[in-house]
Amino acid sequence: MCGIVGYLGQRNAYPVLIKGLKRLEYRGYDSAGVALITQDGDLQVYKTKGKVSDLEAYADEKDTSGCIGIAHTRWATHGEPNSTNAHPHYSASGNLALIHNGIIENYASLKHQLTEAGVEFKSTTDTEVLVQLIEYIQTSQHLDLLTAVRIALQRVIGAYAIAILDRSNPNQIIAARKSSPLVVGIGDGEFFLGSDASPIIEYTDKVIYLNDGEIAVIRTGHDVEIVDLNNTHLEHEVKTVDLKLGQIEKGGFPHFMLKEIFDQPDCLRDCMRGRINTEANNVVLSAIIDYKERLLNARRIIIVACGTSWHASLIGKQLIENICRIPVEVEYASEFRYSNPVIDSHDVVIAISQSGETADTLAAIHLAKERGAFIYGICNAVGSSIARATDTGSYIHVGPEIGVASTKAFTGQVTVLTMLALALAKAKGSINQADYEQIVGELNSIPDKMQLLLKENDRIRDISRIFTYAHNFLYLGRGYNYPVALEGALKLKEISYIHAEGYPAAEMKHGPIALIDEEMPVVVIATHNALYDKLMSNIQEIKARKGRVIAIVSQGDTRVKALADEFIELPTTLECLEPLLATIPLQMLAYHIAICKGKNVDQPRNLAKSVTVE
Ligand code: M6R
Repeated sequence: MCGIVGYLGQRNAYPVLIKGLKRLEYRGYDSAGVALITQDGDLQVYKTKGKVSDLEAYADEKDTSGCIGIAHTRWATHGEPNSTNAHPHYSASGNLALIHNGIIENYASLKHQLTEAGVEFKSTTDTEVLVQLIEYIQTSQHLDLLTAVRIALQRVIGAYAIAILDRSNPNQIIAARKSSPLVVGIGDGEFFLGSDASPIIEYTDKVIYLNDGEIAVIRTGHDVEIVDLNNTHLEHEVKTVDLKLGQIEKGGFPHFMLKEIFDQPDCLRDCMRGRINTEANNVVLSAIIDYKERLLNARRIIIVACGTSWHASLIGKQLIENICRIPVEVEYASEFRYSNPVIDSHDVVIAISQSGETADTLAAIHLAKERGAFIYGICNAVGSSIARATDTGSYIHVGPEIGVASTKAFTGQVTVLTMLALALAKAKGSINQADYEQIVGELNSIPDKMQLLLKENDRIRDISRIFTYAHNFLYLGRGYNYPVALEGALKLKEISYIHAEGYPAAEMKHGPIALIDEEMPVVVIATHNALYDKLMSNIQEIKARKGRVIAIVSQGDTRVKALADEFIELPTTLECLEPLLATIPLQMLAYHIAICKGKNVDQPRNLAKSVTVE
């Protein structure tokens, strides 16, 4: 949801900023811009509608000199995506340039006050209000920039990560955050800014994660100075990021999404490393050891999440209820936060988020915390806002996910939820040793089975070509595979723009069956498990109405295969682990259909990777 980059040092800032924007483009890509203080002391802003490559073309042959700059890639909230609304925004005098990620909720009243005071606006963004407000305070009260920023931010309601350049102070960047992420990179005599560490790690692994309400003053030849909105100086911890450049590059794949689909076996090995002891067939999650009593005494567990993470939560609910016998509710974080939930200190809330920055999930955590619940986080982004807001938790350790359509994070989340359920069940004594060891052993073999499944990529590509014509898809599954059907439908929608719906298979006859005709592809996850015969009946019902069935079946299946138009075989595993395998062909199906339709799978329209606004 908008990417921010900054540089201050001895290098030419422009190439560093452009490279950084490309690494952050997954956060938004409807316009891009850069502000530089050039060698002759001008504050230049270049910005344009479109992607970072459009910005490069636009800035070609312009003066891009200078060793200090800020840059932005936008996902529009207020104001249509055009060049005027692109960031950075100049202040009225042209002395300041500001970039922003977030939403200024009271921008309309601030804008009204500023307009009354004679300030003229060029754009329709909330961001321009912020830069004008800062300059208005600075000039009308004769203040230094830092003081003006502090006062302005005290008047602002909403979320922001900002960076400001000041023509009259060409060796300084001021940056601040509230509810939107911001990282300061500390190099050797140089500084970087990023919405996350990806634009920084090529240069340094030393970073400071700014906290809410903090302002960083970054100056050449000085340590980073951090103050709060009342100008109290704050100590900061310099952390070392464990992120390798190779993890954020495509590594020979045409798209990040395909790379991330293929990365999954290794990602899950990383996720389980040190947590599954293969010799003892045992799961150890440090968060469980440290907070055993709190977790085991939970009256119930509430899982809050959004999107794909919400789908993983539905699988987690079944796992935890089945083997731990603790009641679990799954809530959309966006609904939970406004629902006045009945929740107190007897409850445990599990918050699941790949990015660790989703605004709704973060707000749900704050609400649950206020009411006394214990919060367990399952995140991918290390050091993210959600990871830091929780009482304890487990990272999924699948490495940065760049493709906007989530793939490896989903299987990582399901893997952590499985380990969590196993560890809790063992501690509670609600699972017998044989079942425990069987699930642990089988979980450990999932990456190898995924690897076999990935060999089906060409076949799935061929199947995808047949169905590119479709305008609608249905996805059906039951039990553990119902959330997989939801996830398969979401993947297809997001990147191919084909309308798709996931349903529990038995619900089909309560409505969706009316849609079925010879034009309608139905993806059915019909593996050999307790409900196999029921799914067979559903498939018969689809075929009787001339629907076209793409079936996900267990290895060696004959009955579903005989009915289906197309099928993909899954290696056999335990029913509770099937989602980890059944998801893979659905990810590949969505990918190839989108590619056949000529869509940009890594940067689908209207979406952003990290949803830091409501
Ligand atoms: O970072 P989070 O897991 O909190 O993100 C939640 C959703 O925004 C995310 O899963 C979204 O639905 C993805 N685009 C799905 O592919």
